[in-house]
Amino acid sequence: MSITGIYPPSDEFVRQAHVQGMEGYRELYRRAEQDPEAFWGDIAAREIHWFEKWKEVLDWKPPFAQWFVGAKTNVSYNCLDRHAASHRKNKVAILWEGEPGEQRFLTYQELLRLVSRFANVLKARGYKAGDRSIIYMPMIPELPIAMLACARLGITHSVVFGGFSAEALKARIQDLGATVVITADGGFRRVKEMKLKAAVDEAVAECPGVRDVIVYRRTGSDTAMQAGRDSWWHDLDAALTGPDAEHCPAVPLDSEHPLFVLYTSGTTGKPKGILHTTGGYLTHVTATMKWVFDLKDEDTYWCSADIGWVTGHSYIVYGPLSAGATSVMYEGTLDYPQFDRWWRLVEKYRVNILYTSPTAIRALIRQGDHWPEAHDLSSLRLLGSVGEPINPAAWEWYNRVIGKGRCPIVDTWWQTETGGILIAPMPGAVPAKPGSGTLPMPGVVPAIVDFHGYPVEPGHEGFLILRGPWPGMIRNIWGDPDRFKEQYWTKVPGAYFTGDAARCDHDGYYWILGRVDDVMNVSGHRLSTMEVESALVKHPVVAEAAVVGKPHEITGQAVCCFVTLKKGQGGDHDKLGQELRQWVAHEIGAFARPEEIRFTDALPKTRSGKIMRRLLREIVTSHTVTGDVTTLEDLSVVTNLAAQQDEE
Ligand code: PRX
Repeated sequence: MSITGIYPPSDEFVRQAHVQGMEGYRELYRRAEQDPEAFWGDIAAREIHWFEKWKEVLDWKPPFAQWFVGAKTNVSYNCLDRHAASHRKNKVAILWEGEPGEQRFLTYQELLRLVSRFANVLKARGYKAGDRSIIYMPMIPELPIAMLACARLGITHSVVFGGFSAEALKARIQDLGATVVITADGGFRRVKEMKLKAAVDEAVAECPGVRDVIVYRRTGSDTAMQAGRDSWWHDLDAALTGPDAEHCPAVPLDSEHPLFVLYTSGTTGKPKGILHTTGGYLTHVTATMKWVFDLKDEDTYWCSADIGWVTGHSYIVYGPLSAGATSVMYEGTLDYPQFDRWWRLVEKYRVNILYTSPTAIRALIRQGDHWPEAHDLSSLRLLGSVGEPINPAAWEWYNRVIGKGRCPIVDTWWQTETGGILIAPMPGAVPAKPGSGTLPMPGVVPAIVDFHGYPVEPGHEGFLILRGPWPGMIRNIWGDPDRFKEQYWTKVPGAYFTGDAARCDHDGYYWILGRVDDVMNVSGHRLSTMEVESALVKHPVVAEAAVVGKPHEITGQAVCCFVTLKKGQGGDHDKLGQELRQWVAHEIGAFARPEEIRFTDALPKTRSGKIMRRLLREIVTSHTVTGDVTTLEDLSVVTNLAAQQDEE
């Protein structure tokens, strides 16, 4: 079987698919192209409950878009109430397994009850639409419960991935102006407790705006509570009395009401708060559940991401629940207690759709086929990939060993900023080509352009841009509209600049090649080189730092740092290297821990003093330096660095 060929879905898959055959796809795409407003208006009317209808579908004043102008809806209502009032009331909404092995099956009715109770807790403490919350929790059901409770009242949430440090958490609380932090004592990772509340204490000490810290008891370890500020979730819950404790009407919110802000790395040291709103986002993530995952009512759907990243927001919580799915949520790691944990989950819960990342696939490949082969994976019907380019070898293994050659693979390209999937095959319609995200979703108009914004020929590399608005698009950078315009909308006037390089082949298939900016992709997590550099230069012995992504067999890229020390500093480089790696983990989070710290006397710079990261990238990638180095201030710096590499 060739892995560079074309993989059409089986006839049986096509017969049962929501969108059937290329004609089905083309018809949808054509309708969206001809009249995008009518197209999205129809979908929104069909898929979403609105308390009040819109006056117009779209108000587009580039770069600012408003979708479903004047309409009122509520995301929590769409994810819960409407299903709890339907034949799905006893369907499992969240199927959770903890790392130690506990199970919770929360039906739509039960989830609605728990979300309403927690919304009443927040309401009783005075929180309301327009307030902001930070949610810093492990992968337990109370995390989506907190999100849905906030969405119910119109409290804009920002989920911070549990792997982020106290420093990173503090920056996000302050930038968002959050007044309430929802957390847990800790979470489990390979039996070890990840202490969350301790990090919250450290962060909130410098956030005078925070009035409440609400703590869910997950691990039961000793946890210091600050009187007047901290409360246990269960105490607040127990204090709810009366017949209305379990009822909390969803607030009808404007379609453009801020639903959440998710911080992500950009090209500067400061993460940006990506703002997503209500009606358009919900329409987009709901529509793509059917188009891309071909979701059926009877499916068990599992997205293995962490809810702290956008994939978890859109495709564990909001998309699947709005579409009425059973969404599996697993707390732990893929190797605990052994490398077959995921396959045990697939077998036990008869998972039909599995959505994961190339990094996870590569980590699993390395452990050998005997782990998946020991389990019955026959329930699987569709496989998905997201976050990084999937290399042909990983694609082939996923197809052969996990999908047994009968499950279509959907390689989905999108970003925190896009809200939902933009380029991916509709599996019953669009044949896959390994490594390609294939074709755009209806209403999405990508293009590949050169430095001047002119389209390049098919087959040639260029910048991936998106022309025109789509419902799930980023609305703004929280508190920084100038950066929003500058970052995304000025490079090619009138178009959205993705920051990715790509090419489009003669069949119109898109191939994503990676970032063109100073953003690294480590295990599918976005990390800015500047963020790591800023963390390093905060260390008292570091004079300068330059950080680049280095190709890595499992994680795609690894963080590689070049560091110069202040005069008179130095000593034991091994020890200092360890200390700096730990320092970065403390400043940003464990997932950002550099793989490598290299000490050097100087960094290659242009005559105007800019660090030439391109050269460093070449050194770590190909061990040589090519291209133009005429602007380099001191060429010997580069030759020395390259020579150092050869010695290793
Ligand atoms: O470079 C692209 C890569 O991940 C970036 C977006 O990262 P983030 O905002 O963290 O969102 C990740 C999950 C949606 C993109 O600019 N990327 C994402 N999906 C793919 C991808 N690269 C290649 N193929 C993909 N399927």
